[in-house]
Amino acid sequence: MKNTLKRAGLILGTLAGLFLLAVIILSIIGSNKLNKQYNIQPESVAVGSDTAVLQRGQYLYSISCAGCHGDNLAGTPFFDDPGLGSIPASNLTTGTGGIGAVYSETDLVRAIRHGIDNEGKPLMIMPAGAFWYYSDEDLAAIIAYLKNAVPIDNDLGEKNLKLMGRILVGAGLLDVLAAEHIDHAASRPAAPPPQVDAAYGQYLVNVSDCRSCHGAALSGGQSSEPGAPPGPDLTPGGNLADWPTVDFITAMRTGTTLDGRQLSPEFMPWEDYGRMTDDDLTTIFLYLQSLPANGK
Ligand code: HEC
Ligand code: HEC
Repeated sequence: MKNTLKRAGLILGTLAGLFLLAVIILSIIGSNKLNKQYNIQPESVAVGSDTAVLQRGQYLYSISCAGCHGDNLAGTPFFDDPGLGSIPASNLTTGTGGIGAVYSETDLVRAIRHGIDNEGKPLMIMPAGAFWYYSDEDLAAIIAYLKNAVPIDNDLGEKNLKLMGRILVGAGLLDVLAAEHIDHAASRPAAPPPQVDAAYGQYLVNVSDCRSCHGAALSGGQSSEPGAPPGPDLTPGGNLADWPTVDFITAMRTGTTLDGRQLSPEFMPWEDYGRMTDDDLTTIFLYLQSLPANGK
């Protein structure tokens, strides 16, 4: 009896020790990933400021950025969890707490296209892997719009990832660093002219990050967000096969599908996509309908 207890105690002690070791190793790996230094000299893009450019920038900001950084660019608390930590979506203006005054145009290209901050560290959550596809012209328009933003004071505090958050990053279970997945040296596909055709539809799908939840071939996938339902097949192999274009537009504007289901805005960001023009939504649908069924 005594021996059995002793043995059990030894096993438990060893397990506790191993657990502690795993926690320490994973938190170190996590911290290393978060503090990794990326030396990337981004391309320079020619930032103009005429009305057409600013309007284009405002439109692209509204569909790609406002959902996290706010309509007024002053940022939002975005992620705040008592166990994991807090990651605000930064105030992008020159007001108090904003990054507008310290980020140069080059810094902005690095952040938006490569997911790296002005000190060379990877940004969290920012979907730079999708924005990587933005053409020089469109990226320049977004930057012009940011540079002309009305300053708003909104201090959201520093980001702070707690031990549990760092462990999850270390274990690869919290996949929030876009910079890790971007091929920073790759050349960008030529941007097609903005018109209602499948080529431009593909461009819009790429910059809108649809693939991160609906799969690389858009034939079904899973977002990394805990608790998210699977992203359905968007090719003609799925439900959309017999949707008229107008019903696709309605689903993206209201979240209600042809067969009366309600898409949850928490897991499918239709509220942002719903701000797209009819032409852009039609263009996306054209591209989806042109895909091989089930991605095969
Ligand atoms: C899914 C939410 C999300 C979207 C969409 C998003 N961002 Fe971000 N962004 C964030 C978060 C969160 C941070 C802070 C990351 C950090 O501090 O590690 C951030 C950081 C940034 C930074 C760096 C600021 C700093 O504090 O160093 C810039 C610049 C930026 N975003 C611009 C944009 C632009 C422009 C767009 C649209 C093209 C955009 N973001 C879209 C969430 C988002
Ligand atoms: C953050 C993850 C995410 C992104 C990004 C995303 N989706 Fe979704 N989408 C989902 C999820 C999850 C569902 C299922 C939601 C539900 O059932 O409530 C869905 C459902 C849909 C549906 C309804 C499909 C059906 O069979 O009923 C359409 C259409 C759709 N998405 C189109 C798009 C398009 C187009 C894009 C890019 C412009 C996109 N989604 C980007 C997660 C995402």
